[in-house]
Amino acid sequence: MGHKLFTPISIRNLSLSNRIVVAPMCQYSAVNGSATDWHLMHLGQLCISGSALVFVEATAVEEKGRITPGCLGLYSDENQIALARVIEFVKSYGNTKIGIQLAHAGRKASTEIPWKGGTPLDPNNSDSWKTVAPSSEGYNLNWPEPKELDFEDLDYIKNCFVKSAKRSIEIGFDIIELHMAHGYLIHQFLSPISNKRNDKYGSSFENRIRYPLEIFKAIRDEIPENFPLGVRFSATDWVETSSWNIDEATKFSLKLKEMGCDFFDVSSGGNSPKQNIISGPAYQTGFASIIKNKVGIPTIAVGQINEPFQAESILNTGQADMIAIGRGMLYNPRWVWHAAEVFEKECAYPPQYARSHHSLIGLPIPGNPKPK
Ligand SMILES: Cc1cc2nc3c(=O)[nH]c(=O)nc-3n(C[C@H](O)[C@H](O)[C@H](O)COP(=O)(O)O)c2cc1C
Repeated sequence: MGHKLFTPISIRNLSLSNRIVVAPMCQYSAVNGSATDWHLMHLGQLCISGSALVFVEATAVEEKGRITPGCLGLYSDENQIALARVIEFVKSYGNTKIGIQLAHAGRKASTEIPWKGGTPLDPNNSDSWKTVAPSSEGYNLNWPEPKELDFEDLDYIKNCFVKSAKRSIEIGFDIIELHMAHGYLIHQFLSPISNKRNDKYGSSFENRIRYPLEIFKAIRDEIPENFPLGVRFSATDWVETSSWNIDEATKFSLKLKEMGCDFFDVSSGGNSPKQNIISGPAYQTGFASIIKNKVGIPTIAVGQINEPFQAESILNTGQADMIAIGRGMLYNPRWVWHAAEVFEKECAYPPQYARSHHSLIGLPIPGNPKPK
């Protein structure tokens, strides 16, 4: 064991030093979409984690695309300046590559932050806004009805994705992931649960994937050819009556591959309160394995992968190419150091902390006699 987790991999022009990725995780700590000192601390600690890549949380491409008023955005110059400060910090002190997840929450936007309840904001609350979606049906019975997007709105949002992608590259991100999972806007188009349209964007599989593919293509066409661009999607709605399942997700992935998609990050669920998720250790890895083996581009497995041996065996058995860790990394930001220890491998340590590591404790201390 220990053959894969600490081996390098490339995604288009990006060389990654190992197979461990920090999953994107909303922090609900932005102000008007702009990153704050919390992001400096949060991403600051993760960028010295020794993982190969850290994804910044779902970052809204327009103000209305934020899940909560505390969500991060990259739709204004102010947002760009604030996030550039964080990325500059990460680049100065960190040892990981840094990715952004571009997102639009669609009908699941305008909600309260989780520790205040996470429920839809009251439309009378001045912090709330009218949500948008493929169709005018709310996420759940007590959720507000979104505005059904017309063709002009669709063009506008597509452009917002392109603009945010360009801003991301300008401020130094190494890779972009498009958030097409968890019941947010793009997933809302993919799934018949949320997409009830009768025009060219709804009903048949080909129509439901049309707008997501248009967004992908618009970005791919506008960013440098060597810049890596990938997608996180939900491999299934976990709703028996929905056709959005691993079969449709696989067909969709094949189309994305044809259009120049560089990696998949395979998640699941989030689009219906009726979902019946069978969760447990590594519970989404079977989906990643199908995508990796049928589509054949670098694939990230995610979801309750908490132990180094579990991660290693997923890679060794050819089920995925990389492992993303979310909560495990919040709980123990030194996860990678400990995993390296288990497999007797090397990973990056910031020089400031080098003396915490047994192989490096002999570093000289200014003024002390040289270690023997
Ligand atoms: C606090 C928190 C915030 C999250 N925010 C995002 C997000 O912004 N985008 C996303 O795609 N997934 C998000 N997720 C899901 C994680 O990226 C990950 O897929 C999920 O937690 C399962 O992995 P884990 O078991 O290693 O935590 C979030 C999860 C947590 C715990």
